[in-house]
Amino acid sequence: MPKDDRFSLPGYGPAERHMAESLVEIERQILEEPGEDDCDCREGMFPGMTRRGLLASGATIGGAMFAAGYAGADAPPGALEYDVLSDPTSAPGRTILIDGGYGSRSQFENEVRWRYPTASIDSSWSMTPLASGHGIITPSGLHFERHHSGIATIDPRRHSLTVHGMVEEPIRFTMDDLKRLPAVSRMHFIECSGNTLTEWEEPTLKTVQGTHGLTSTSEWTGVPLSTVLEMAGVQDGAAWILAEGADAAVMTRSVPIDKAMDDAILAYAQNGEALRPEQGHPLRLLLPGFEGNMNIKWLRRLEISDRPFMTREETSKYTDLMPDGTARQFTFEMDAKSVITFPSGAMMLPRPGYYEITGIAWSGRGTISRVEVSTDGGKSWQEASLEEPVLPKCHTRFRLPWIWNGEEAVLQSRAVDDTGYVQPTIEELVAVRGTDYVYHLNAIQSWHVAPGGEVTNVHA
Ligand code: CO
Repeated sequence: MPKDDRFSLPGYGPAERHMAESLVEIERQILEEPGEDDCDCREGMFPGMTRRGLLASGATIGGAMFAAGYAGADAPPGALEYDVLSDPTSAPGRTILIDGGYGSRSQFENEVRWRYPTASIDSSWSMTPLASGHGIITPSGLHFERHHSGIATIDPRRHSLTVHGMVEEPIRFTMDDLKRLPAVSRMHFIECSGNTLTEWEEPTLKTVQGTHGLTSTSEWTGVPLSTVLEMAGVQDGAAWILAEGADAAVMTRSVPIDKAMDDAILAYAQNGEALRPEQGHPLRLLLPGFEGNMNIKWLRRLEISDRPFMTREETSKYTDLMPDGTARQFTFEMDAKSVITFPSGAMMLPRPGYYEITGIAWSGRGTISRVEVSTDGGKSWQEASLEEPVLPKCHTRFRLPWIWNGEEAVLQSRAVDDTGYVQPTIEELVAVRGTDYVYHLNAIQSWHVAPGGEVTNVHA
């Protein structure tokens, strides 16, 4: 792996530096691999993350991107390979249910999550392909992942949730017990607080999947946490809840009881079906707007207390180092953020003319009230249209028509939420937090469009 001195950031230890170097290298390899769809046609706007490129990059990291048997399969992940007639009207199509009854996507669609390359395959995260996304829902199979000790496989019939500590009556719920309680379904994003962490000092990753792919939106269904707490009877003085996962990391975070009583959900379903295993099947805690790692997956225990528990993930990790040497702790909410997903890094605009600039905006503190778009690096701004539904703590799709005149342009988006908070520039953010901060980078993203149509990641 070639040394990349862009990662001499003082806030990064050797492990983080190695991860970042690996990420840059693997992305470079993917982008350099000639794709099947490299041409002057419209699809040429989306080069790089092609099937061949992904397979090639999988090989370079020991095949770890694909499960055994997949790299040799003809169809992309999630698809089955069928014969393609030159005239599809010339013969009946295939019959229903030959895929077993669950369904699969088109064999011509190949977007996949992209594994953040780490030193071993045991600890990692994967990123959502935002550039090819539509609307605001992330397909469950493309929801980003961050695991602290792999993906647990849990039989829901043997899984339970224990609520104890400062309660009148400790209670143990089976999954069936939980599913009998009144449920809610709500659309919310989850964003890893490490999303965009490579971009503090310099533009580093080339694609929006790399820079912003650790955020995803789903419809989540489950029981309001407040219902379960009321059943258990929270004692006076209770202020915090320890949430514990049943994975090998026994992931734990302390949650303020106000949040638990507000909009927290014990979620067992995602986008209309049971949670995916990598999203915490059979049960996860959903804390809308809070940093991703607090949304404890494979949830098995809630302990009520009058103080935070000071777990590993809120002391040695997920704190934020300020320039004066102090650290911020319990930085829960994800501040307002937005990113243009089209056009975005590594794309190629084939010719001057009409394009629709589009992207997503979100805020962990409320609802997006406005998104402004600049095509001149922030000198002037136009208000984008927000597509309904515009929901609290949820991705919001924005759109703005644009006639590209073929000259250099710098595209930016700036989100404003209903608290009045305005998404900052990277300079404004660094001026307050310095560059040792690592998490919670929510600055304005800039994409440079060269006269030849090439789109690249820049700081502007
Ligand atoms: Co935080």
